[in-house]
Amino acid sequence: MVKFSGYSLISSFTPFHSVILKKQRRFSALDLYSNNSTKSRRTLSVFANKHQLRNIKTHTEMGVEQYRPPLFSVAPMMDWTDNHYRTVARIISKHAWLYTEMLAAETIVHQQGDLDRFLAFSPEQHPIVLQIGGNNLDNIAKATRLANSYGYDEINLNCGCPSPRVAGHGCFGVRLMLDPKFVGEAMSVIAANTDVPVSVKCRIGLDDHDSYNELCDFIYKVSSLSPTKHFIIHSRKALLNGISPADNRRIPPLKYEYYYALLRDFPDLRFTINGGINCVDEVNAALREGAHGVMVGRAAYNNLWNTLAHVDTAIYGAPSSGLTRRQVLEQYQVYGDAVLGTYGNGRPNIRDLIKVH
Ligand SMILES: Cc1cc2nc3c(=O)[nH]c(=O)nc-3n(C[C@H](O)[C@H](O)[C@H](O)COP(=O)(O)O)c2cc1C
Repeated sequence: MVKFSGYSLISSFTPFHSVILKKQRRFSALDLYSNNSTKSRRTLSVFANKHQLRNIKTHTEMGVEQYRPPLFSVAPMMDWTDNHYRTVARIISKHAWLYTEMLAAETIVHQQGDLDRFLAFSPEQHPIVLQIGGNNLDNIAKATRLANSYGYDEINLNCGCPSPRVAGHGCFGVRLMLDPKFVGEAMSVIAANTDVPVSVKCRIGLDDHDSYNELCDFIYKVSSLSPTKHFIIHSRKALLNGISPADNRRIPPLKYEYYYALLRDFPDLRFTINGGINCVDEVNAALREGAHGVMVGRAAYNNLWNTLAHVDTAIYGAPSSGLTRRQVLEQYQVYGDAVLGTYGNGRPNIRDLIKVH
């Protein structure tokens, strides 16, 4: 494991203030990357041969400094950030980036006859990111290729889901954090099969693998073995002791100090902060603290209007749509009338369409 012994953290959390002790750095992640880049490229070319990749892009070729993550994004949320939610979210905010729910690579591969149901979205939903989950490189490659024709703006790999179905039986999601080499391989496979940027969403650790050094080891290995430059950090660890996914978003404490330390220690990468951010004022506070991007989950769903209606003006400095809530609902009704029953078997029905708050 790479030791990041030159770095230290203050363990208690102070929201969006300077939480990092700035010690003299003994070496930087960039130094480590440079030292190992030849080896990384060699590893990638082995993958290229094995998985018939069309195009391996290294950090150097892509130009790290060109990539800017979204200032504001709505988190991927299973059963929540579906087409219906994203439609109403986009009516309210033109600038927020929208993430899909996680789609397992296997689902995409095995539903080839019915892909629109899983992958289609209306052009208004751009910018939109597809999140995939999986642990099989061939399926990840195929799923990425199948998704290409839909025109997503970025592909994200889920390395944060603690659900027993995913992390337990499925052995992907947050469990992948224990195997950064595999994640590096998976990200290389994704990048080689798409032309859009790629990113990883992860936690700060899991169970007793929760030290800052281990997180750095993960980030360092994934970023040097693949073209990944953007990491979304859900700033709490996951507990795989059988607690529910909902409790896993509540019980492990938020440790934003890990996030801000990554900003300092990996200046060549981009990081989006996620977890416990509840309103646009808190988003802007995080951006002022230096966050490259902020991702909001539950607040953007449970408090849709109060969160998203301020994003374009308060975060992007763009004009407001000027729509009233009534006008938003009227536009959503037009969408609802058009899609009712189109998935077959009466779905989506009214209930599916109005669960959006
Ligand atoms: C209902 C629900 C479903 C979720 N599904 C996913 C998912 O599919 N992929 C993922 O990476 N995270 C998922 N998450 C986690 C969120 O993306 C986010 O990391 C988490 O809610 C913390 O952000 P928040 O405090 O702003 O809600 C889900 C969260 C919720 C509430």
